[in-house]
Amino acid sequence: MATDHEAIAEGPQDPRRRDYLQIGAVAFAGVGVGVIALPLINQMNPSADVLAASSTEVDISAIQPGQAIKTTFRKQPLFVRNLTPKEIEEADAVPVSSLRDPQTLEQRTKAGKTNWLITLGVCTHLGCVPLGAGEGENKGPFGGYFCPCHGSAYDTAGRIRQGPAPTNLVVPDYEFTSDTVVTVG
Ligand code: FES
Repeated sequence: MATDHEAIAEGPQDPRRRDYLQIGAVAFAGVGVGVIALPLINQMNPSADVLAASSTEVDISAIQPGQAIKTTFRKQPLFVRNLTPKEIEEADAVPVSSLRDPQTLEQRTKAGKTNWLITLGVCTHLGCVPLGAGEGENKGPFGGYFCPCHGSAYDTAGRIRQGPAPTNLVVPDYEFTSDTVVTVG
């Protein structure tokens, strides 16, 4: 014959025991979902070859000082520009505190390679492609890039200096994989 204690602990009608069983079942189901979800989440992580495809290698060996090229990075225009010493001086001469989006040229380039300005070719106003990277294109009043859509003007560091664009041209992640090759992304 069951004691009162056993009747409470083991009785099939005991509501508390039912609760435990239900909580256990829910917890087990949760673990099950986790076990199923993990491989799915792992499948969603980009594989190494997808990551490699999303980065872009740019050969910069033929870009002379004062020249720039337009290429693409993840389907967006990318400007790679080799600044002249004069363009570097002009960028460095601007008081950073006077800028709408305060950044030095040094902060926007790699150490020891401040002549290489690498930015997206996408105006930060409404996304037009600014002029200035192509031979003979209008570089605007600050000698960098000029957006023909609404007149935003960027300087030789790709910083916004005039017009409606709120921020500087975006510098993507990149690294020099050799003296003549840059891997963007
Ligand atoms: S999109 Fe460039 S100024 Fe408007």
